[in-house]
Amino acid sequence: MMKELLEVRGLVRRFGKKTAVAGIDFTLEEGAFVGLLGPNGAGKTTTIRMLTGLYKPTSGSVRYYGRDFFSNQKGIKGNIGVVHQYSNLDRDLTAFENLNLHCILHGIPRSERKKRIEEALEFAGLAEHRNHQIKTFSGGMKRRLVIVRALLHEPRILFLDEPTVGLDPQIRRSLWDLIVKVNQVKSMAILLTTHYIEEAERLCKRVMIINEGKIIADAPPEELKKDLGRFVLEVFHEDGIEERLFQSKEEALEALKGCRETCKIREVTLEDVFLNLTGRRINV
Ligand SMILES: Nc1ncnc2c1ncn2[C@@H]1O[C@H](COP(=O)(O)OP(=O)(O)O)[C@@H](O)[C@H]1O
Ligand SMILES: [Mg+2]
Repeated sequence: MMKELLEVRGLVRRFGKKTAVAGIDFTLEEGAFVGLLGPNGAGKTTTIRMLTGLYKPTSGSVRYYGRDFFSNQKGIKGNIGVVHQYSNLDRDLTAFENLNLHCILHGIPRSERKKRIEEALEFAGLAEHRNHQIKTFSGGMKRRLVIVRALLHEPRILFLDEPTVGLDPQIRRSLWDLIVKVNQVKSMAILLTTHYIEEAERLCKRVMIINEGKIIADAPPEELKKDLGRFVLEVFHEDGIEERLFQSKEEALEALKGCRETCKIREVTLEDVFLNLTGRRINV
């Protein structure tokens, strides 16, 4: 039987008295596309940093292909690609030069470098910009470049920490296309963190909801939502919005008829799931 790509058990990280990650468990298969969805401060970045070797866990274990990460970091790191929240490029270097730097740092043989870099630039739709300095790049172009840079050493899993934060909706969509392509064309597993509901729902085949350092739900988005109902009737009262859940649109429409206030019907989202589990919203 094939070993799981990643197995995380009882992972904890404290900073002084603060517990950022409070004991999380999950496994990830080859080629998986998983989201870690939660509000600011939930423990997403701390988790990614532990899984990629930037932070040492307070306790717990991380295994890649059955091997302990912390006693085999050097050997395992070749399987891992990561785009940190504030991943940076050298502004004065060209796209090609930035990618070449990554190749050198990762010990990719000289004879391989050019081919891999050209392929990466092509994959990101940036081939025409290969000799342009990063300071001429838009925010979206830079984000595309750091993603393909993380793939140059051909890892088996790519970690993306809030890959589209702060981008315009349009640019966000083009980045989603690239991320999906990485998963589908390169069959690379992806674990991305986000606090954007739509991003988790649209992209991820499986979503782990994280709150206060704990994973409180872990399933495909459709499964997470189905127990709640499929449609929400929002009733706009003077003192706030009441949300009523229904299994079918017909039922919601029926309830809408009896509404005296302003009402709106919409589909259930993972925000409703989060609200149901925690009593809070992800994005406030
Ligand atoms: N280096 C640190 N020192 C102290 N507290 C930290 C540190 N890094 C993170 N934290 C705290 O741990 C919690 C989780 O942070 P983080 O993992 O960055 O959450 P997220 O990425 O989900 O926003 C937050 O309360 C944060 O303030
Ligand atoms: Mg974060």
